[in-house]
Amino acid sequence: MNTSFMERLLDALNQNRLVLPAFPEAAMRARDVAERLDASALDVAREVAKDPALTARILKVANSSMFGFRQNTGSLQQAISRMGLDHTKTLVTNFALMQLMAPPKAAYGQLIARVRTHCAEVAAVAYTMAEIGGRQSKNRALLAGMLHDIGYLPLIQFAKNEPDAFLLDPAFMAELKELHLQVGNMLMMYWQFAPDLMNTVSDHHNLACDNSSEVSLREVVALANAWVRADEVERAELLQSELAEKVNVTGFGKEQEARIGEIKRFFS
Ligand SMILES: [Fe+2]
Repeated sequence: MNTSFMERLLDALNQNRLVLPAFPEAAMRARDVAERLDASALDVAREVAKDPALTARILKVANSSMFGFRQNTGSLQQAISRMGLDHTKTLVTNFALMQLMAPPKAAYGQLIARVRTHCAEVAAVAYTMAEIGGRQSKNRALLAGMLHDIGYLPLIQFAKNEPDAFLLDPAFMAELKELHLQVGNMLMMYWQFAPDLMNTVSDHHNLACDNSSEVSLREVVALANAWVRADEVERAELLQSELAEKVNVTGFGKEQEARIGEIKRFFS
C-alpha cells in the first residue's frame, strides 16, 4: 500500500481540506418542499417535474410492484399522491444520491460504481427486512441503506488522480474501511440529515443490538449490510443472531428475493 497516499489523505482530513460534495440542489429543493407541512402532491410534482430524468424514475418506481397499485399512471401528481409525500421524499433523495455517485470513466469511476451498486443492494435488503419485521419504517430503511456507505465518496474522489493499479488494488478500499465511517459522519452533518441516519452511516458495521428495545435504523441497515456481504453459510448464522431476532427477520421468500432484485435495479 502506498503509505504516502494515506499520509496525504489523513493530512487533508485533519486540516479540514477534504472536499465534501454538495447535495444536488434540485433534490434538496424537492425535499424541502415535501417537508413543508402544507405541501400537496401538486407542489412536490411541480418541483420534481423540473427534472425530466427524475420524473421518469419516480413514475417507474410508482408503477412497480414495490407499491402494488392495480393501475399504472402516467401522471406525476397522481403517482406522488398514491405513494405519499414521505415515500416521494425518500425516492427523490435516493435518486439524488445515485446522481452523486455517477461513475465517470476512469478506474476511480469503477470504484464509485461498486459503492453505488452495493448501497442499492443494501437499500433493497433493508427495505425488505423492515417490511418483514414490521418494527422500523421501510421507507426510512430504504434511504438509510442507500446512504450508509456515502463516506467512501469523498475518499475515492480524493484519490482520483492516483494510478489505476493503485486504485484497483483491493488493499486501497480495505485501507479506507475505518475512515469511510468518520467521513460519512462528517458528510451527514454537512448535509444536515437526521440523527438516526447519521448513526447508521457512522456505525453500520456494528452487529450488536442497541440498548433500547425499539429497532433502530442502524440495526436494520447493519443487518442488511452484513447480509449482502455474507456467503450462504454466514447468512444462515446471521439469521440466528440476536440482531436478526430483534429486527424480526428469519429469511426471504421467492417473491421477496425478486422484489429485492427489482429495487436494487432502480438505484444502481
Ligand atoms: Fe460500510
